[in-house]
Amino acid sequence: MTRESWATRFGFILAAVGSAVGLGNIWRFPWMTAQNGGSAFLVMYLAIILVVGVPGLLAEFVIGRRAKLNPVGALSSLSGSRGWGWFGLFNVLTSLVLLSFYTVVGGWILRYLVASLSGGYFASPGSFFSAISFGWGAAGYGVLFLLATAAIVLAGVRRGIELGTKLMMPAIVVLLVALALWAAGQPNAGAGLSFFLTFDPGYLRAHFVSVLVAAAGQALFTLSLGVGTMITYASYLDEDRSLPSDGATIAVLNTLVGVLAGFVVFPLLFSQGIDPGTGGPGALFVSVAGAFSAVAFGRVVAVAFFFVVTLAALSSSISMLEIPVAYLVDEHGLSRRRATLLPVAVLVVSGAATALDPSLFSLFADTMVNLMLTVGLLGFLLFAGWVLGPDALAEYVLGADGVGRATGPAWLWAVRTLLPLFLLGTLVVALLALAGVTAPLVVSVLP
Ligand code: PHE
Repeated sequence: MTRESWATRFGFILAAVGSAVGLGNIWRFPWMTAQNGGSAFLVMYLAIILVVGVPGLLAEFVIGRRAKLNPVGALSSLSGSRGWGWFGLFNVLTSLVLLSFYTVVGGWILRYLVASLSGGYFASPGSFFSAISFGWGAAGYGVLFLLATAAIVLAGVRRGIELGTKLMMPAIVVLLVALALWAAGQPNAGAGLSFFLTFDPGYLRAHFVSVLVAAAGQALFTLSLGVGTMITYASYLDEDRSLPSDGATIAVLNTLVGVLAGFVVFPLLFSQGIDPGTGGPGALFVSVAGAFSAVAFGRVVAVAFFFVVTLAALSSSISMLEIPVAYLVDEHGLSRRRATLLPVAVLVVSGAATALDPSLFSLFADTMVNLMLTVGLLGFLLFAGWVLGPDALAEYVLGADGVGRATGPAWLWAVRTLLPLFLLGTLVVALLALAGVTAPLVVSVLP
């Protein structure tokens, strides 16, 4: 049986952008930005996307296209070592951990989409969120979201993922632009935009390390790095197209959508006099949803908004599920149908457990995700840089234009040295923070 592949280059780019654009841009990005000094975070985040995100993305692309296999098969066959295969299994596990909480949040979004039709949460957004966020209802909606994800993946790479993202991405962009224009017309919108866009170097100086760590975590999450999604997607490339320019396009589009989401969320919060720093992970659901209740045509806007978020979340969750599916198809010869149903069965249980237990949810969504993605990308960089080495460079320049080829040597150097050191640094800070050593203390031991 021949392995599946993308029908067009555009289809691959859209699928990868679909993976990148997700809850990370709309739910996590405004929340992280608000918690880390607004524009100070934005500036740091953009810098990390450029310096770490794009080269990291290209490392995954190089591994995937070279091997034309899932992460487990790619790492073990390219290295000839079982040890790297185990690392690939760690990636598969990461995708299951991610999906366990992502489908719960996806379920919340579905619930809000339904409730927006009737304005169900308009009277008291805060108590609505606490009533629905955990429990059997949350588990049920989470399973619904999981099944929608599975239905797309089941249909295959071309007829499921590629076709699905081709329909979803334009809808997301058009609706977000419309929502941003609408939000700009709300009273006091300017204050929201200036919170988002006015750069405050003082804040950055005072909180450098914590902003850095948060921005690095967000950059990995939003570009879908460190799980093997981008390895898997690049493994379905069958022609030699330019990886550097595709990678840059994907990063730029993802960032634009993230910033566009900020243009919707911040003016809306300020127009209702809501402090963006409050709310944490519930911000989207409590403050933003609350703002809809106060504006004209709130229901229509709310439906449009949660519809966008549903599409964005789905186009990302399919890319997470494709990791175990590709693994089971490539390595164990399962049909796509069985390879989809098996992880889905596991996820019904792990997702329900996550929906029933808030502490499990935050363990997955905060701690484990940050650590697992960082370790994952660290492994991919070391693999591309040191195990593949010159082969990685050869793959990088294959099909690239002059500009792309010129960046090759600098890329390989960064992938070997600078970027692993950077990730190791953020890993140490994150582990110290877990051990109770907080960022200010870490700062004081830095030169
Ligand atoms: N990038 C996705 C988002 O922003 C999340 C994701 C992470 C998807 C890792 C796949 C792999 O929502």
